[in-house]
Amino acid sequence: MYKQLEERGMTSPPVNVSTLQKMKSDREPIACITAYDASFAKLVDRAGIDLVLVGDSLGMVIQGHDTTVPVTVDHVVYHTKIVSTQLKRSFLVSDLPFMSYSSPEQALDNAVRLMQEGGAMMVKLEGGHNQLSIVEYLAKHDIPVCAHLGLKPQSVHKIGGFKVQGRDKNKVNKMVEEATALQDVGADLVLLECIPNEAGRIITKSLRVPVIGIGAGPSVDGQILVIYDLLGITLGPTPKFVKNFMQDSDSIIDALRRYIKEVKNKAYPASEHCFS
Ligand code: KIV
Repeated sequence: MYKQLEERGMTSPPVNVSTLQKMKSDREPIACITAYDASFAKLVDRAGIDLVLVGDSLGMVIQGHDTTVPVTVDHVVYHTKIVSTQLKRSFLVSDLPFMSYSSPEQALDNAVRLMQEGGAMMVKLEGGHNQLSIVEYLAKHDIPVCAHLGLKPQSVHKIGGFKVQGRDKNKVNKMVEEATALQDVGADLVLLECIPNEAGRIITKSLRVPVIGIGAGPSVDGQILVIYDLLGITLGPTPKFVKNFMQDSDSIIDALRRYIKEVKNKAYPASEHCFS
């Protein structure tokens, strides 16, 4: 009973939404990573990762698809359940996959599955203005939400590829408006993917809630990478923001610790990992 209270006295108590908010206020960068299985989940947690995402990127890196579109709620529940068994400290976020949140009621049903069956502590959805009523509905039901903006991989067929977003001023202004509106209806976290440094900086400065970036430059409140990219497992060309931390590391845990250290001391991302 009240395990969270007992664990508060620990030197590294479990991360929760208040911890993430405090890290933003204290300007301590938040180190995040994806994981999909028990072995990697245990390693990332023991390495000291703050937040683990069971992302729908599993469609690409686990299932071998070209996009995240084929991923279903059952798939995410399955992987979340496995990952959650291994986490002692890291905060666990899971993706609502393609078309699993097309109405507030559907979003709530699926978020409840990710939390009750999977053990997720927060759900992530890709959205802008069109998702405001959904985020508001989830927040009213006390479901913690992360809103994903910038490059939205679930819209890849609509936007015509995985492309950098927010390269013109109007688009950045629209993203600031959307991020602020999502925060104001109850999003607890914002994730920005593949946008120029300056856009990442402006959006992060505009928000009270923490902002996690992947290819969003150094000014966001935290960084996330897909674990297979970070460990150099992904073959072929990788996005510009990827850094292979296995190079110059003796072991996987060493590479994970180096990633955390470079996020915390802001050595990662360097200019070669950023968009302008
Ligand atoms: O699905 C995923 O893993 C993600 C990350 C790329 C942030 O959304």
